[in-house]
Amino acid sequence: MRDGGAEPTPGLPAHVRRFPFPFPHGQYMYSVNVEPAGRYRPTAAGGWGGRIVEVDNDYSQDLSVRRSILARDPSRAAETPHLRPSVWGALNIVLTELAGTYPDSMRYERSGTRCRWTNQLTGTGLFFTYGDDTTVPGCPLRFLSSQMQEDFALLHHREGALWLDAGVVTFASNWSLRFDVGLPFSEIHAPVPRVADLGVIERAEKFLIGLQPGEPYRRTNWSVSVDRRLDISTETYPEWGPHRASIAEDPALPDRLHLRVEVQHLIKVPSTGALLFLIRTHLLSLRDMALVPVWRARFGEVLRGLPEDLVEYKGLARIRGPAADWLLGSGKD
Ligand code: HEM
Repeated sequence: MRDGGAEPTPGLPAHVRRFPFPFPHGQYMYSVNVEPAGRYRPTAAGGWGGRIVEVDNDYSQDLSVRRSILARDPSRAAETPHLRPSVWGALNIVLTELAGTYPDSMRYERSGTRCRWTNQLTGTGLFFTYGDDTTVPGCPLRFLSSQMQEDFALLHHREGALWLDAGVVTFASNWSLRFDVGLPFSEIHAPVPRVADLGVIERAEKFLIGLQPGEPYRRTNWSVSVDRRLDISTETYPEWGPHRASIAEDPALPDRLHLRVEVQHLIKVPSTGALLFLIRTHLLSLRDMALVPVWRARFGEVLRGLPEDLVEYKGLARIRGPAADWLLGSGKD
């Protein structure tokens, strides 16, 4: 079912057509919103969701931004040594997905431990030995992050809980891998309002522990960004935080303020049982959103009705009013 039941408007730009608009109705509240991965979701603009890893026009630019963030701040990549077999398992999953989805530009061949990876988009042609760290550039963790736009984390199951043990996260939405690595799932989510009382985190963790290899799931999460800035991690708050206050009075608000949607995939690594968590961030300015009238009105309603504690947590205190006014048509254009 398309959101709002509307037929897509012809002639929309590709990034609007493919945008994973996350609101089925005009109220939003946290839930364990998981669904099987890979299902195509028609929307009022087009549709999204037919693939697990997605390459778009920003591929080279996003990978180059990631490279410079990692060069400046190596703590955006983290790993505990016992996780290395899971990193290899994750690399195998992602390269298989990429090659299967983009056969014109990517190819992955594997015979036992002998592997060959070709990626015309990054100019990579690599023979490597599965499990031998010395055969990939950097280390398997870094190499994986150099081939996909997605951020990723790996969680291990022990003592009845999931523990965040590794990852490369350069585009975090106001959190920090460095602070969270080594923590259990429940503590990672401790800053999020309501979820403990709603039982969301407990149910989600049980679900994730029971997830089977070969049954990938996905969910969406949302926030906002000023400008097309992917890195809004805790570490760089001084660079992006002040814009959150000044954007409220900025006449360019509809062009600068973006809805930021994370499509998150949840995949079990068959060889180790670790959970691979892929986070892909999509941005859509309010101006572009307005090309789809049902989205414009829906996001306006979501913002207007968002409970205060979620507004506070998502850093929307100054933004919500002017953004909702513009979207719902009562603000200045
Ligand atoms: C934030 C739920 C999986 C890491 C959140 C939020 C919710 C949530 C509701 C608040 C989002 C917001 O308002 O912006 C869930 C559910 C999951 C899940 C239902 C699975 C079914 C994961 C996994 C990780 C993770 C696997 C592993 C790294 C985080 C982090 C935050 C977050 C780091 C930000 C917390 C902060 O403010 O410091 N999650 N999550 N989540 N989630 Fe999850």
